[in-house]
Amino acid sequence: MDSVLYLDDLVDQVDWLDQVASTNHYLAQQPPSLGSRVVASWNQTQGVGRMGRAWVSPPGGSLALSVELGPSLMPVGHSDTWRGVLPLMVGSELLQAIGTISDDVSMKWPNDVHIGGKKVAGILGEIPSASRVIVGVGLNVWLEDDQLPTPQSTSLALHGLENPKQLETLIRTFLTGLITTLQNSRENVSPAIWESIRGALATLGCAVQVSYPDGRGLRGLAVDIDHAGCLLVKSENAETHTISAGDIEHLRGVS
Ligand code: BTN
Repeated sequence: MDSVLYLDDLVDQVDWLDQVASTNHYLAQQPPSLGSRVVASWNQTQGVGRMGRAWVSPPGGSLALSVELGPSLMPVGHSDTWRGVLPLMVGSELLQAIGTISDDVSMKWPNDVHIGGKKVAGILGEIPSASRVIVGVGLNVWLEDDQLPTPQSTSLALHGLENPKQLETLIRTFLTGLITTLQNSRENVSPAIWESIRGALATLGCAVQVSYPDGRGLRGLAVDIDHAGCLLVKSENAETHTISAGDIEHLRGVS
């Protein structure tokens, strides 16, 4: 099976690495790119996830892909709000690409893409310096049931992905959509993009359990996201809480 997908016409530089600790960190350690650049590997050994967690990706089955935004994709005068919005934009584009093989794709705030309610991809945006933005995607591709990192994970192969050509089409659809969206969002994020993000987020309208990074918890209804991509959760006393970091669980049967 040819494991190197042809993406060279989409960005200025594509590096396929036989093995790498973390594609995000590899990119961050390189001199700043003059254009947009992708680093990808089927064997990432120390992948990083949100909130300092490990992203476990069995060799050969899971694709680690990081994109450094070149000047033509960088937001003008980007601010902290970008941190929360970027993973949502990436997730929405990935969802649309995965939608070519499954009609049960959704996003879970803030950075997960699910098929059938199970995580198929995680997204991690990093801003190593004021002028650099890197966004990494871990995508479970060929994993069989017994290779999944957790019982809450799934893979594209378990949902109809059959061959490398289909995967190449999916990744090209994702990257093409992402590049267009980023080019169009340099000044601001258009209402159409917000609409796609809101439409993709299964979290909205769900009863959720929020776990803040400091261990505190909150239960409520996820009602919307704000301009910075924060989740707005209305608690039982009708107070609206703005969640910028933390984990959420979608609750069933609670409103
Ligand atoms: C998460 O779900 O917590 C985010 C996971 C992000 C994993 C990707 S894999 C490519 C890139 N390199 C990393 O070390 N992490 C991201």
